[in-house]
Amino acid sequence: MKKIAALFLTLLIFSCQTNKEEIALSKTANSNSFNAKVTDLVSKMSIAEKAGQMTQLNIDVLMVGEVFNLEEPHRFDPEKLKKAIIDYRVGSVLNVGGHAYSLEKWHQIINGIDSAAKKTPLKIPVLYGIDAIHGANYTMGSTLFPQQLGQAATWNPSLVQKGAEITAYEVRASGIPWNFSPVLDLARQPLWSRFFETYGEDVFLAKQMTHAAIKGYEGENFGDPYHVASCMKHFVAYSMPFTGKDRTPVYLAERQLRELFLPTFQEAIRSGSKTIMINSGEINGIPVHANKKILTDLLRDEMGFKGLAVTDWEDIIKLNTLHRVAPTLKEAVKMAILAGIDMSMVPNDYEFTDLLIELIEEKEIPMSRIDEAVSRILQLKLDLGLFENAAAPSLEDYPLFGSEEFAQAAYETAIESISLLKNDNDILPLPKDTKVFLTGPGADEYIILNGAWTRTWLGRARAYDEENKLTVLDAMKMENDLLSYEKGCDLRASKNTDAALTKARKSDAIVVCVGEQPATEKPGDINSLDLEKAQLDYVKQLQETGKPVILVLIVNRPRIVSEIVEGSDAVLMAYQPGSEGGRAISDLIFGNANPSGKLPFTYPRFGASLITYDHKTTEDLDTGFGMAAFNPQWEFGHGLSYSNFEYSDFKISSDTLTEKGVKVSVTITNSSDLEGKEVVQLYVRDDFASITPPVKRLRNFDKINLKPQETKTVEFQLYPKDLAFVDKNLTWTTEAGSFTVEIANQKKTLVYAP
Ligand code: BGC
Repeated sequence: MKKIAALFLTLLIFSCQTNKEEIALSKTANSNSFNAKVTDLVSKMSIAEKAGQMTQLNIDVLMVGEVFNLEEPHRFDPEKLKKAIIDYRVGSVLNVGGHAYSLEKWHQIINGIDSAAKKTPLKIPVLYGIDAIHGANYTMGSTLFPQQLGQAATWNPSLVQKGAEITAYEVRASGIPWNFSPVLDLARQPLWSRFFETYGEDVFLAKQMTHAAIKGYEGENFGDPYHVASCMKHFVAYSMPFTGKDRTPVYLAERQLRELFLPTFQEAIRSGSKTIMINSGEINGIPVHANKKILTDLLRDEMGFKGLAVTDWEDIIKLNTLHRVAPTLKEAVKMAILAGIDMSMVPNDYEFTDLLIELIEEKEIPMSRIDEAVSRILQLKLDLGLFENAAAPSLEDYPLFGSEEFAQAAYETAIESISLLKNDNDILPLPKDTKVFLTGPGADEYIILNGAWTRTWLGRARAYDEENKLTVLDAMKMENDLLSYEKGCDLRASKNTDAALTKARKSDAIVVCVGEQPATEKPGDINSLDLEKAQLDYVKQLQETGKPVILVLIVNRPRIVSEIVEGSDAVLMAYQPGSEGGRAISDLIFGNANPSGKLPFTYPRFGASLITYDHKTTEDLDTGFGMAAFNPQWEFGHGLSYSNFEYSDFKISSDTLTEKGVKVSVTITNSSDLEGKEVVQLYVRDDFASITPPVKRLRNFDKINLKPQETKTVEFQLYPKDLAFVDKNLTWTTEAGSFTVEIANQKKTLVYAP
């Protein structure tokens, strides 16, 4: 096994994309038939056993105490364990009882469930699922990466793949084979509480990250003990609530749904993702959990998904109680299963299972639908190797869990994610002998660096701070002997401001880390996108001292900071950089590292002007009838470096685009004395089209490293299909006509004449 671990490590370091891998991945994705063992098992199962397989319970239901209020230390209640696994034969268990567990504790849990499953007649193993969304965040001591939004800001898919590989390794070390990640919703509504859980606003960038994540989670050889089943979520358009509040109605034309919200899921299916979780909300008045057109006609028949579809939390119950499309819970169960749900994240009682049994017995749901759902569940268990062994692994086989080496990968991801948005007069990097005053609610808070889904659901409990991990204060102190610190302000109220201002006045430069309370889902709903007033006021007071101010944003979404940008000499967007984030922020500030992150979304200047970069031309029209209405604080793709990159020699191999494609090339020179990374971004505008075209769309990118004074030429192939959009017949099409191709403000016209 140790050898396997070493091999894994080599793969981790040298993994690269080959055609062979692509072919293998799409083969897995398309395998339709069920294994003979699965068919045989299904033929032997009773109705109750089948309904049990389709049930997923919260671990709390099996433990001593009440759901959400377990007795410490958490432990199985033998009666409850027996009821769930032996009497009801539930197919799946999820989550943690309120907080993260040690590896040893996880092993007790997994083995306890597995021993019970072995006592059932068919000995079907239980599938455990967990949200490990920026590392194995529910296992103590695991490696914590930047949240997905920060990962996207690296514009470096190989880092995202490596992060997913490490996460899979550490989740498997805990004995868990199924991860409810990645989130493939697009972040086009900045108010939404789960903005940080996405790969940003753009389809192309998010697709690249999706592919990398699925490959990282599931590996080349699905079912090996170092990878997990991924779960693409939340299908579909969950991220676009009209009000900006979580799980509120979405109104969306099918054309937009297809052009913006399906491609990441289609990419994940192509990459082999084994499972999918459904959007808790409604689209155009129909809850997705009850929508057969979306869950079967679109997802299965059209998009070709063959894997397992699980509901989100209590979503069948909500068809009855919240969405009110089902007058009874029984009706809700019938609706969801007939629409195409395979497994219900019930998750806190047995009503779903009892009602499903009744519905099957009454022939309200055909056995063929049930057998299909159960077969998908069993096939996944088989492919994961759970029939051979579903017990917790030996810790010896996971020597790299929580290792320095894994922490280094998280650090590199954090370094490449953090985006330098402003740097007047090259104030950054700061010389190490600067008298720095560090302040703000995010400066000495580990939980703010990590955000939600960190050791607890909301990530707010300081009890799980890791002693060996550094806050920004810890890290900066190690670099700067002259550093002084005062919090000066809490998230929502001032704190020792006078003392802070006194220290600020005595400093040479002020670094202020503003932040946002870790939050997700409903608790993350906000009524204003503005950064909290107390923090804005405090930063203004700091600016009044006349000292240079470096503003560090550690936020879940683009909180409006326009009032304090002008008075800040530099701005660093840190996203939620994870457990190595303190070190990364400090190293970027003091020049131990060079920033290369680029915004994966448009940073708005005003709360009532939330326009994405790929908006329509009409959105540029301003009140004076000029074309300056699109005026974000910072544009999508923006991010500075301490190096200088010069673009030249922008060429397209032909003025005319045919099916053979054209080569677009550009030369980039690092004219500084500092090695650095640059993201070369290729945008194309469809000049005229039958559906109003966006002003531009990202069609390709490449992140390159340049030594001082080094020059490189980057080439992109561009084919007609790369310029396609969804037309009025709902098909992807590239219309003849002219296109404007743009790299770093250099533009050329290309004509497509098929
Ligand atoms: C979230 C999902 C998550 C599930 C299980 C739900 O409330 O929407 O993203 O996977 O809980 O924790």
